[in-house]
Amino acid sequence: MRVRIDPGGTVGGETAVPGDKSIVHRWLILAAIGDGISSLRNLPPALDVRSTARCLAALVPEARRSLDAWASNPAGTPDGQGFTINKGEPRVPGARVEVRALGRAGLQVPDGRLDCGNSGTTMRLLAGVLAASPFTSVLVGDESLRGRPMDRVAEPLRQMGADVRTTDGHAPVQVTGGALRGIRFETPVASAQVKSAVLLAGLAAEGETTIVEPVRTRDHTERALLHLGAPVRSSGAGRVTVEAFQHGGFSAEGPGDVSSAAFLVAAAALTAGELTVSAVGLNPSRTRFIDVMGRMGVVIEHLQTGSELGEPVGDLHVAKCGGLRGTTVGPDELPLVIDEVPALAALAAHAVDATRFLGAGELRHKESDRLHGLARLVRSLGGHAAVEGNDLVVVGGGLAGGGAHAGGDHRIAMALAVAGLAARGPVEVEGMEAADVSFPGFLETLRGLGAQIGG
Ligand code: S3P
Repeated sequence: MRVRIDPGGTVGGETAVPGDKSIVHRWLILAAIGDGISSLRNLPPALDVRSTARCLAALVPEARRSLDAWASNPAGTPDGQGFTINKGEPRVPGARVEVRALGRAGLQVPDGRLDCGNSGTTMRLLAGVLAASPFTSVLVGDESLRGRPMDRVAEPLRQMGADVRTTDGHAPVQVTGGALRGIRFETPVASAQVKSAVLLAGLAAEGETTIVEPVRTRDHTERALLHLGAPVRSSGAGRVTVEAFQHGGFSAEGPGDVSSAAFLVAAAALTAGELTVSAVGLNPSRTRFIDVMGRMGVVIEHLQTGSELGEPVGDLHVAKCGGLRGTTVGPDELPLVIDEVPALAALAAHAVDATRFLGAGELRHKESDRLHGLARLVRSLGGHAAVEGNDLVVVGGGLAGGGAHAGGDHRIAMALAVAGLAARGPVEVEGMEAADVSFPGFLETLRGLGAQIGG
């Protein structure tokens, strides 16, 4: 799908965004290994979340009907199928899905391969769950996912006693689970997916399982587990320990995805709009982009209004922004803005001076090679950017306009659209449909807020 972004609109007003995929992947998985009935509200029809739901439907017979019905047709006829559609704001679709499960021991041998689609979180977290299940399953994914590293998660699971085979370090990943023992694992990469996989396996292991990260990453798994009563201990130094635990069913409403909100905030900042995004997740391990944008001159207020399963929820408000300046995002800060670098790079291209993302090598392993992809994005719209080793430097000075392909990466697609809003000439984006992976309704939302977007 090709769209044309015309400069000149102002993005402002009040809106909401679909539920947070990073959080609801975890809640769906925890519901599927819980012993009881869970009710999850505001699940977004994001393709990644539907991949997780489909895989879980294949593993949990009691939940098959509701998960399959929703994942196959999230806007469909929900009556009597175990899901209902959110009421209200039509641009922000969501659903309540009921998940019945019999605990870890209730997982069944899946009929076929488990298709994780484009979703690294689905594949890596499910590997952690399946490591403790006494059968063989095979996790597969699309072309992008087949290019992403899987040994980082296979290695600790092997140390715990599971038989995990990758294909030259990639998917397909075959997991034969069994009795696990706790380990202490120092992961060389700062990855919340690796941490979460090890913690999910540790919930079924004998003894303590500890994971130590080089830099702290998002802590959604720890928060949910703590809330469910699991014996989880975190230390400020990036060390988390868990012991065996079986939780029951639970109810929770997914907060809006703050990483999706970051694109709208950037759009408002670039067009001098005033914007409020309501009911988004405000977990501090996800909101560091607010500080980074603050250093660039974008004033964002946030106010917590509640919490769900240990996750703070509230509103973001961006006031009219004047000039943008560059900043430096250091290697310790980078894991905390890993998914917002595309939105930050779109802003940085319009700043008066350079922005540096240091130690950003992990961006190579996302849905596409975002380290080079973002430099290309800026250049394809007439700006200047370069990759220097593991650093990305966006020179600033504004964009002329032009065109580029999203290359199947949802965040590159959204960054292109947002960067285009303040370009001097129109911007054509090919492959815009990729945004559905995390933010179904992205374009409609932007249009509704005042952006000038043509077909
Ligand atoms: C995620 C962790 C991050 C992030 C991804 C979602 C998660 O990946 O980029 O979008 O839900 O745990 P890594 O763990 O590979 O850094």
